Order: sequence, then structure tokens, then C-alpha cells
Amino acid sequence: MLDQRPLIEARGMAVGYRGGPLVLEDVTLAVARGQRVGILGPNGGGKTTLMRAVLGELAPRRGVLSVRGRCGTVPQTERSRLDYPVSALDVVLMGVIGRGPWWRRPGRADRGEALAVLERVSLAEHARVTFGELSGGQRQRVLVARALLQDADVVLFDEPFTGMDAPSAARLMGLIDLLATEGRAVLVATHDVGQTLAWDAVLCLNGRRVAFGPPADTLTEDVLRATYGHALVRLPSGGTFAVAAHA
Ligand SMILES: Nc1ncnc2c1ncn2[C@@H]1O[C@H](COP(=O)(O)OP(=O)(O)OP(=O)(O)O)[C@@H](O)[C@H]1O
Ligand SMILES: [Mg+2]
Repeated sequence: MLDQRPLIEARGMAVGYRGGPLVLEDVTLAVARGQRVGILGPNGGGKTTLMRAVLGELAPRRGVLSVRGRCGTVPQTERSRLDYPVSALDVVLMGVIGRGPWWRRPGRADRGEALAVLERVSLAEHARVTFGELSGGQRQRVLVARALLQDADVVLFDEPFTGMDAPSAARLMGLIDLLATEGRAVLVATHDVGQTLAWDAVLCLNGRRVAFGPPADTLTEDVLRATYGHALVRLPSGGTFAVAAHA
């Protein structure tokens, strides 16, 4: 029988870096299969830190966190990594490493599968292109393909829309929907409050959990104020809020 328990569950979780203070406290949430969760918060609010905890890179200092299933990650873009002469196909094939025993090197069947997932993100013809030569939007899609190959139950996106043009963003929104339709849980850190309205839940972070729940009920003016503080401005159109400064 299918395991109905949430893929991610946190209760009163607090996280910090080695030797430093807690940077995230009081995080309670449950994320089920098929859910798309937007993670909102100011710069330094703890979005990336939360993802690192889910990935098992940081252990909770207080409270509990349980993650059932495999995680795939699409990290916040690091320009320094773009110099490596690896192809899009190589980057996707790295997903195989997390899937099998450590001694198993990617073989012909894996390459076939890697090409198939590149096809799903409409990048099969870019398989041989060097990762660093792809556009930001294409790189994100290569990383989505890697998560597909990993057969990740939980897929984490850290600000994937930053610097992306509208067509690429629309395409990535579609891929996020696809991942969720396949029964994966998808967590997306973003600075775009409006974008999260299309998803199933929103987690507002500002050094602690400010709120968690369905976006339409959760994103009240009070919650947005507590999340963004002074960075929050009212748009001239009235009624709508936007985040003033972000990365
Ligand atoms: N490797 C690290 N070592 C120590 N402290 C860190 C480390 N990474 C982040 N922090 C601290 O943890 C806090 C939360 O940072 P985090 O990167 O999670 O924020 P964020 O919400 O992802 O911000 P951004 O929108 O800028 O990406 C910040 O105060 C930051 O200085
Ligand atoms: Mg971050």
C-alpha cells in the first residue's frame, strides 16, 4: 500500500551553522506527495538553510525533522561552478550517482535514460553543450532533468526564477507542475509572492516560521509584514503588496 505519511515533517525545528547561533527556529510543517510549496522570506531569512536541513546537510539542533524518500536539488546558481567543462548530459548523469550503489559508474542504459529525461525538458539537442554555455533557464531545466533521473521524491529549487525571462519562467512553472503531478513534493524558494498563489502551500520564513498553509489563506497583510518587514511596499494600484529589494 502507498505510504500516505507526509514526505517532509518538521516540528519545532531549529537549525544553525557549526559554532554559530540558530538562524532558523520554530519550524513546523508537513508536506505531502504531489504538493508544491513556495518558500518566501527576505534575504537571510533562512530559505536556503531550510533546504540544507531537508537535504540532511544540517542536523536540527532542536525539534524534529523527518524526510521520507530521496531528495533532488536544483541549487541557487553558483557562477563559479560554470567553468567546469562538463556537458549537459554529464550533469544529468550525476543523478545516477545518487541512485545506485557508489561503485556503479554510469553505463549505456543510464546514458539512454539521461537523454530521455533531457528530451522531457526539451533539451535533447543540447546534450553535448557545455553546461556553462547554456542560458540560465536551460541550466535550470538540465537540473530538473537530473532530478527526474534521480527519481527524487522531494525536489528542491532554490530561487530558480532569478534572472529568467518570462518564457523560461513559464516553462519552469510547467515542469514544477509536472513533478508534482508525478507524486513528488516540490519546494521552491522564491522572491515572487504572486507566483506562490498557483501552488498548494506557502512557507513564510524570517529567522523562524512566520506562517505555513494554503497561499490564499496564509498570505495576509500581517503575515507579509512579519515576513518582509520594511522591505514590503504597497503598490500604487492599492491592495497589492510587493517586496522592495531582493537579490
Ligand atoms: N554557511 C554558513 N555559515 C554560517 N552562517 C550562514 C551560512 N549560510 C547562511 N548563513 C546565515 O544563515 C542565515 C540564513 O541564510 P540563508 O542563506 O538561509 O538565507 P536565504 O533566505 O536563503 O537568503 P537569500 O534570499 O539571500 O538566498 C543568514 O543570517 C546567513 O548569514
Ligand atoms: Mg538563499
